[in-house]
Amino acid sequence: METNLQKRKEARKSLRIKVISMGNAEVGKSCIIKRYCEKRFVSKYLATIGIDYGVTKVQMRDRELKVNIFDMAGHPFFYEVRNEFYKDTQGVLLVYDVGQRESFDALESWLAEMRQELGPQTSLENIIFSVCANKIDSPKHRCVDESEGRLWAESRGFLYFETSAQTGDGINEMFQMFYSTIIDLCENGGKRPMSSINIGFTKEQADSIWRIRNSKDSWDMLGLKPGSSRDEINRAYRRLAVLLHPDKCIAPGSEEAFKAVVNARTALLKNIK
Ligand code: GTP
Ligand code: MG
Repeated sequence: METNLQKRKEARKSLRIKVISMGNAEVGKSCIIKRYCEKRFVSKYLATIGIDYGVTKVQMRDRELKVNIFDMAGHPFFYEVRNEFYKDTQGVLLVYDVGQRESFDALESWLAEMRQELGPQTSLENIIFSVCANKIDSPKHRCVDESEGRLWAESRGFLYFETSAQTGDGINEMFQMFYSTIIDLCENGGKRPMSSINIGFTKEQADSIWRIRNSKDSWDMLGLKPGSSRDEINRAYRRLAVLLHPDKCIAPGSEEAFKAVVNARTALLKNIK
């Protein structure tokens, strides 16, 4: 009797989860996993062929996690191999290299590939994504800054971490939070708890920061046609200033965007009689 109870308790405590890695070839997916599981780094590039599979046990909170890790090959050549591994996944490590803009720009197409393979019935909403901005050990080569990566991730409700598989920076913190959020998901019946969905800023704020970052000139920054009037400039400015004021907006990059808007307005008004 007692042993049955004990067995049931043990079963409650142990949890089997499936995690996959996604992202372009050579961004460091395998090295991140190796750094965490084997505490080592290999500097020679050994491309993953199709899929690498491993099981690891992790003790977290009062749970024993049995983690099945499917480390995917990023090369397009392996699409046919990896496409059947997307289903029944609780967590995704979505990795890019901060020194390679194409790998950051490709994140959206990785989500699209996953969506396509899972089909329209399965939403990505109840999967935990952890975005790893990897290779932060080479600041000289960095071309995607933290606020840009964080904004992309957090505006989609994803976790965001700056990592280096080479030095180990950020790796343990990332996995701790990743697994802990997956436990929350499992304990909530496989649904993301509301607290982790609430991101603290609006889509309009995120979209505006994104547009300001990528604008080609001051007119574009304020969302105006070149040659707009003083009134139109002031109106556009006021709208964005209220939306993005750092006291009110906690979206990553809001402070820089706010300053850029102030400067754009000043520059445009200077040229108007
Ligand atoms: P595929 O399996 O082809 O999809 O690539 P991957 O994303 O698994 O990349 P992998 O982990 O094999 O790493 C690619 C290269 O980047 C290797 O030469 C690694 O040594 C190097 N690398 C990985 N992580 C880091 C890092 O944090 N910093 C630096 N400087 N190099 C890294
Ligand atoms: Mg690999």
